[in-house]
This record gives sequence, structure tokens and C-alpha cells, in this order.
Amino acid sequence: MFPLEVSSVEINIKGKRILGPINLLLKQEGISVLLGANGSGKTTLLETLHGLRKLSKGKVRWSIPNKLAAKEQSFVFQTPVMLRRSVLENLMYPLRVRRFSKPNAIKEAMHWVKKIGLEKKIIQQATLLSGGEMQAVAVARALITKPKMLFLDEPTASLDGLAKKTIEDILVLAAKNDTKIIMSTHDLGQAKRLADDIIYLHKGLMESHCLKDEFLNSPPSDAAKQFIAGDIII
Ligand SMILES: Nc1ncnc2c1ncn2[C@@H]1O[C@H](COP(=O)(O)OP(=O)(O)OP(=O)(O)O)[C@@H](O)[C@H]1O
Ligand SMILES: [Mg+2]
Repeated sequence: MFPLEVSSVEINIKGKRILGPINLLLKQEGISVLLGANGSGKTTLLETLHGLRKLSKGKVRWSIPNKLAAKEQSFVFQTPVMLRRSVLENLMYPLRVRRFSKPNAIKEAMHWVKKIGLEKKIIQQATLLSGGEMQAVAVARALITKPKMLFLDEPTASLDGLAKKTIEDILVLAAKNDTKIIMSTHDLGQAKRLADDIIYLHKGLMESHCLKDEFLNSPPSDAAKQFIAGDIII
């Protein structure tokens, strides 16, 4: 059974269609990667699936009631938003909101702080971390509640190899532990490393949704071919 079904969804702003119509079925398992050039609609689609965009047409349906589904999702934005509190408190925050006791929240936060290699910075104010460290905290904070679905918008853009690897390893592990990952990236190498299936967007339309190998071996369009070849797409 598919837990997420998008049917005929359109997003129009001031009479201009910026996304859609999109029809999409997503399985509960694995990592789905959104690829496409700048302005192709990746962020808009992620925000739409997460319920942050008002639909102009169509429906986004989960296999559980939408209200319940909303509680089971996390979203990591391209630019991480940190609370002006310590690293540990940032990680504890979603647990405290869910009424975890302080000792339990600390225990869980410590577990995650080790996973992202920031043990030495637990009391540092999170807003003063480097970009890569902040993004790792944002990913850990999103996963700490064990969501069923995690959306990430270009989570490793502008990060170096090591920071990228820390985050990719965490995402692979999360997917193995039953968190569905839906993420956008510009990084074809990352898509090759992480994706089970690839959604390719071009000018607000979904040109294809297929398994990674199928996408790479027989690109669905000239634009996709150019994207894979690293050419400039106009
Ligand atoms: N609130 C808005 N008002 C008007 N146009 C918008 C709005 N949000 C997005 N758009 C337009 O929709 C299109 C898709 O934007 P989107 O940010 O989803 O692309 P993207 O694939 O994420 O691009 P990038 O790779 O640069 O992040 C763009 O042409 C953008 O200008
Ligand atoms: Mg974007």
C-alpha cells in the first residue's frame, strides 16, 4: 500500500502555475530523491507534500488521516534554523514539546550529539556553529522524534565532503530504521549514493518517477539527459 498519494496537484500563484499538475505515489520505504534544475519546483513540491503550501487544485492524501500524518513528519530546510540555545537544548526541544521528561530528553539528545560528532560542543550556542555543524544538528533534531517521514531540502548544499558524509550516513541509517526520506539535491553523486527512486522535475512538471538505475541508464527526456551529463539546462 502507498502511504502518500498526490493527485492532480497544482500550485498557482497570482494566476501563474508554478507547479503541476503532479500525480505521484510514494512508498513508505526508502529514500526518494527530487532532482531538477534551479526553479524546477523541488522546494515547492517538498513544501506541498509537507502541507506548507495551499493547493490550488488536487489532493495530497496519506494512508492515515492527514492530521495524524502531520505529526509523523519532520522537515529540514536548506538553511538550518537554530534556536538561540545550546546544541543540547536544540536537540531536546522537539522531545520537550512532546512532553518527554528532562532526563529522558537529555539521554536521547546525548545519543544524537554523539552520532553527529558534536560531543565537545553540547553547551555551545547552536547559532554559533559552522554551517555543516548546524545542518547536522538540524537533521538530528528532525530525526530525534523518529518521524515516519522526513523531508529535506538540499540538506548538504555547500557542505564539504566530511560534513556531507556525516549527514548521508545518518539518512541511510534512518531509512533502514523505517523513516521514509524525501529529499531534494543538486548533487547527482549524492542521488547516486542515496536514492532508491528519483523524481525528476522540469519547469514545474514531474517528467519522471522511477528507480534510480532506470533514471540513470535511460533518462526520460533531453533535459534529464543534460542534467545527468552535467550540462547547462535552459
Ligand atoms: N511564493 C512564490 N511566489 C511566486 N513564485 C514562486 C513562489 N515560490 C516559488 N515560486 C516560483 O516557482 C518556481 C519553482 O521554485 P522552487 O523554489 O520550488 O524551485 P527549486 O527547484 O527548489 O529551485 P532551486 O534549485 O533554485 O532551489 C520558481 O520559478 C519560483 O520563482
Ligand atoms: Mg529549492
